[in-house]
Amino acid sequence: MEILRSPRLILRPLIPNDAVHFARLLGPDRAGVRMTASIPYPCTEEAAREWIVQKASPEAGQVFAITHAQSGEVMGAIGFGDSPGNGDLGYWIGKPFRGKGYATEAIRRIVTHASHLGISRLFAETFPTNPASSRVLTKNGFRLTGRGARQIPARGGSRTILKYVIEIQGCPGQNTWK
Ligand SMILES: CC(C)(COP(=O)(O)OP(=O)(O)OC[C@H]1O[C@@H](n2cnc3c(N)ncnc32)[C@H](O)[C@@H]1OP(=O)(O)O)[C@@H](O)C(=O)NCCC(=O)NCCS
Repeated sequence: MEILRSPRLILRPLIPNDAVHFARLLGPDRAGVRMTASIPYPCTEEAAREWIVQKASPEAGQVFAITHAQSGEVMGAIGFGDSPGNGDLGYWIGKPFRGKGYATEAIRRIVTHASHLGISRLFAETFPTNPASSRVLTKNGFRLTGRGARQIPARGGSRTILKYVIEIQGCPGQNTWK
């Protein structure tokens, strides 16, 4: 996996020790964790480490730590699965870093990365109670395709979700941030 750069961010592959940052940022943030589909709750260091190890396997797709380009500080995570030609996008930003456009910037960078990998579309899902997440998707060109129900075991079973997609134009080499 590559290291991805954008004006304010470096997205780098997750390492098991990032569990420390997951636990620090998400441990006290029950509401934030419950907006994600798979982050463990409670997000202890041990639970986060297990999640990271699972996501770091090549079969699980590509998951990156979102770090501050200047300080290197871990601020969140973002990634997508590896279904051929498609990928499901997931992301979170720690509470102290929200509202500064970091998720918007990270998603933009990931979409460019996906296009370079020849991925033709990315899917994303949000809970209807998460307008900030819907906003960062639509700001990046994702469109709402519908509402549905999905089994999300980590979130207690069947949940209503909003579905988004972005069709990606293949544009190898076109990366203004590299
Ligand atoms: C969703 C999340 C990733 C957004 O991260 P962020 O870095 O704060 O996002 P940004 O700053 O790039 O953009 C947030 C946008 O949402 C908007 N927003 C925030 N709260 C909102 C609300 N309650 N209603 C409507 N829009 C809202 C902001 O105004 C901003 O849009 P703008 O730039 O047009 O003003 C972050 O809140 C998070 O990690 N939440 C918990 C985990 C999660 O929800 N993950 C996504 C699972 S699908």
